[in-house]
Amino acid sequence: MSAIVWHEQKVSRGQHEQLNGHRGLCIWFTGLSGAGKSTLANALEQRLFEEGVHTYLLDGDNVRHGLNAGLGFDKESRQENVRRVAHVAKLFTDAGVVAITALISPYRDDRARAREVISSESFLEVYVECPVEVCITRDPKGLYERAKSGMIKEFTGVSSPYEPPLSPDIMVNTSEMSINDCIERIVEGVKSKLYRA
Ligand code: PPS
Repeated sequence: MSAIVWHEQKVSRGQHEQLNGHRGLCIWFTGLSGAGKSTLANALEQRLFEEGVHTYLLDGDNVRHGLNAGLGFDKESRQENVRRVAHVAKLFTDAGVVAITALISPYRDDRARAREVISSESFLEVYVECPVEVCITRDPKGLYERAKSGMIKEFTGVSSPYEPPLSPDIMVNTSEMSINDCIERIVEGVKSKLYRA
C-alpha cells in the first residue's frame, strides 16, 4: 500500500479558470525540427498574451536546459521528455493557464499519453506539417547537415522516425501557408475551446 496520499486542494481548477477569465488548455505542437513549431508557438503565445490570456510556453530546446537536462534522443529519453512536459502542462491547465508546448514529440503513443494526462477536452494537438526536404533546405541550426554526415545520431526525419498525427485537432503546413495564415487557423481553433462554458 502506498504511503503517499493525494490531498484535495481547496482552490479548484474551476476557480482558477474563473479568476483568469478563460479555461486552462494545453496546445501541443508537434512536427519535425525546422518545421516551425517554436516560431508558431511563440507567435501564438504573443497573440494570446496581448488578448489577456494567461499563457506559458514550454519549448523543447529550453526545457532540455533544466527540467529535462540530461535526457538524450533515444526513444526512451524522448518518451520521458514528453511524459514530463505533459505533466508540467497538466499543472498549468489545472492552474487555469494555457500551456503551449513545442516538442518534436515524434511518437503517436507518447502524444496519446500526453492527451490522456491532460484530458482530451483540454488538449489541442497542432500538427506543424512540413516535408523533411524543406526542413533540410531551411536547416536553421545546421543540424540536418550534421545529422546527414553522421555527426548527430538518431536525428528525427533522417535517422530516427517521426510519426505524423493521424487526426490532429489543428493542422498547418508551413511550406504552403504563410506564418500569419497558420496563426489565424490556430487562434481560431484555440478560441473555440478557450471560452466555452
Ligand atoms: S523530442 O523528440 O520531442 O524529445 O525532441 P525535443 O525535446 O523537441 O528537442 C528537439 C530539439 O533538439 C535538437 N536536437 C535534436 N532533434 C531531433 N533529433 C536529434 N537527434 C536532436 N539532437 C538535438 C533540435 O534543435 C530540436 O529542436 P527543434 O526546435 O525541433 O529544431
